[in-house]
Amino acid sequence: MQEGEIGDGAFDFGACASSRRGTASVKWDTPSEEGVLPLWVADMDFRVAPAIVEALRRRVDDGVFGYALPPPAWHESLARWLSRRHGLTVAPDTILDATGVIPALAAVLRAICGQDGKVVIQTPVYGSFFTTIRNQGLEIVESPLRRVPVRNAADGDFTYEMDFDDLERKVSVPGVRLFLLCNPHNPVGRAWTAEELRRAGEICLRHGVFVASDEIHADLQMPGSRHVPFAGISEGFAASSVTFWSASKAFNLAGLQTSAVVCVDRDVRERIRRAIRVHCVGELNLFGFIASSVAWDSCADWLDELRVYLQGNFRAMLGFLRARLPQCRVAALEATYLAWVDMTAFGVPSAELERRLEREAKVRFANGAQFGEPAGTSFLRVNLACSRATLLEALERLATWCAGIAAAS
Ligand SMILES: Cc1ncc(COP(=O)(O)O)c(C=O)c1O
Repeated sequence: MQEGEIGDGAFDFGACASSRRGTASVKWDTPSEEGVLPLWVADMDFRVAPAIVEALRRRVDDGVFGYALPPPAWHESLARWLSRRHGLTVAPDTILDATGVIPALAAVLRAICGQDGKVVIQTPVYGSFFTTIRNQGLEIVESPLRRVPVRNAADGDFTYEMDFDDLERKVSVPGVRLFLLCNPHNPVGRAWTAEELRRAGEICLRHGVFVASDEIHADLQMPGSRHVPFAGISEGFAASSVTFWSASKAFNLAGLQTSAVVCVDRDVRERIRRAIRVHCVGELNLFGFIASSVAWDSCADWLDELRVYLQGNFRAMLGFLRARLPQCRVAALEATYLAWVDMTAFGVPSAELERRLEREAKVRFANGAQFGEPAGTSFLRVNLACSRATLLEALERLATWCAGIAAAS
């Protein structure tokens, strides 16, 4: 199968349900206008790999769902996956359990920053970073990413780089205790290179700032490229960081609320373990650890086909927008299934754009304001993890709406 083609692979992602309405889905059942196509929150419309359904079905047939004790095999599955897939060696006893990456982040913030530390994030970035840091009573220090032209026009219209001078200034602000890295980056789609991670990590080491690397999107590299784990760059980086892992994004398990935190430093790990206990976010969902183990142990083929399909969706979107809405500028997508689209040319602030598209065009994207888009700009984040037919229908609605507002002005 060619990259990006809807081919004759074993898994037919294009045949996924055209609607998940009525399935207790945040994406589809959050009250909204009748008939809205939801391409906002980050989960996928695809059925999970058959091996996962089988394993869960076997457990359901047991019919007993008391308190669960994850077996050591669950940590071993993750360690094997990280080694095979990402070349990262992780000792199973350095892994802590948590009911999600964001609950784990809350605990890590408490353990590392105490009551009054500051946290550096690279904006625009995943909206829950802002709320979780603030909910812990901590202060955010933003280091904006730098928008730059893309090298190859076939990949998109622009991309982003870290601004290392700014990062060094921000990391050295008094009171900064943690740099929260998003690797790969939601929403700008960057898969950071080893060189970029090395420079960022060295800045943090120089200033004694701990790193929390959120690698929840690690497995969603576009075909042909490999994820670089922050902690794999050097022993020093591993010792002064924690990494969040989860099968939830790549294998579509977000509703099973299961994640892991890897922390090599024993003292820091014990502080995080205590914070996880205090936050009551360490008791894993029975189905979550079963599904994650199966995903890591036996669903690599499914994942590889998924990545091809997602790349095809991105290319289909880029082609559509270039032909029909050339005023939209699209960030190149190296990883994740979330496309970052600059809508500034239409002159509608992004929160209003999201509301109006939902009401008037019956399509919902995530607005850029929640990611901390730069002032004066207007972005939408498009969730590409749906059938190509759904994606093209959503884009058609967007194009019709944009033509309408252009005609009216
Ligand atoms: C970068 C990032 N971290 C964390 C999460 C949420 O993780 P969880 O559902 O495990 O809390 C998301 C969800 O989209 C995300 O994009």
